[in-house]
Amino acid sequence: MSKPRIVLITGVSRGLGRAMAFKFAEFGHVVVGCGRSRKAIAGLQKELGAPHRFSVVDVTRDTQVSDWASEVIEAVGPPNLLLNNAALINPVSPLWEMDCKDFDEVIDVNIKGVANVIRHFVRAMVERKSGVIVNFSSGWGRETDPGVAPYCATKWAIEGLTRSLAQDLPKGMVAIPLNPGIIDTDMLRSCFGEEAGNYPAAEVWADTAVPFLLGLKASDSGKPLTVPI
Ligand SMILES: NC(=O)c1ccc[n+]([C@@H]2O[C@H](COP(=O)([O-])OP(=O)(O)OC[C@H]3O[C@@H](n4cnc5c(N)ncnc54)[C@H](OP(=O)(O)O)[C@@H]3O)[C@@H](O)[C@H]2O)c1
Repeated sequence: MSKPRIVLITGVSRGLGRAMAFKFAEFGHVVVGCGRSRKAIAGLQKELGAPHRFSVVDVTRDTQVSDWASEVIEAVGPPNLLLNNAALINPVSPLWEMDCKDFDEVIDVNIKGVANVIRHFVRAMVERKSGVIVNFSSGWGRETDPGVAPYCATKWAIEGLTRSLAQDLPKGMVAIPLNPGIIDTDMLRSCFGEEAGNYPAAEVWADTAVPFLLGLKASDSGKPLTVPI
């Protein structure tokens, strides 16, 4: 087992975030996570208990993220591994038929939410001159399909944002855009329907993804990576 780390995960209430929280905790790491669902966050806190910490935070709300970061850094210090996992996908539709609200929500969570988390947590990581930042991208951050233009726009943005961030960071720190693969979660079901069942469950994916994340090193910084599932 590797030395215990502080692992910060956004979007822990469901899907990949929740599966990673359980796997990191099983490996002896301290998990700090957030999501919007009060019920899911309370349930997770009950299931995993202290020293893990789960909070109701909407990453699109800069003040909520700022307050959360102050509280976390005061309690456990800056994260060693920061996973910007929270995201939304648009209802599948041609771009010109997309509601303004649906478009804006995807941009707000998938790009501005990631920037909010980076703004409030990464300064303390830079002061300590260590840490790994992983921004969840997608196959749709490297290629495109019809019906998912807003989501593609955000994940292509994450690729650029993260590679530029890697160049901002001091030597030894790491920033990576990560394609997690294709996994059966609520998000996948919303665009693949029943066909999502042909892909691995989040818990199975986490068995490979978590050791992969723990193995990221300085020479990986700035490289677009994919979980080898
Ligand atoms: N599943 C796949 O096949 C796949 C493929 C490629 C990339 N990805 C990427 O992998 C990541 C995880 O995806 P997933 O499939 O696990 O999605 P998911 O099942 O839909 O879960 C998304 C998580 O993000 C949280 N979230 C959404 N908006 C939020 C906000 N404003 N503030 C805080 N938390 C928020 C949700 O919790 P609340 O609703 O409680 O806030 C939920 O916990 C995403 O970045 C996604 O784009 C997934």
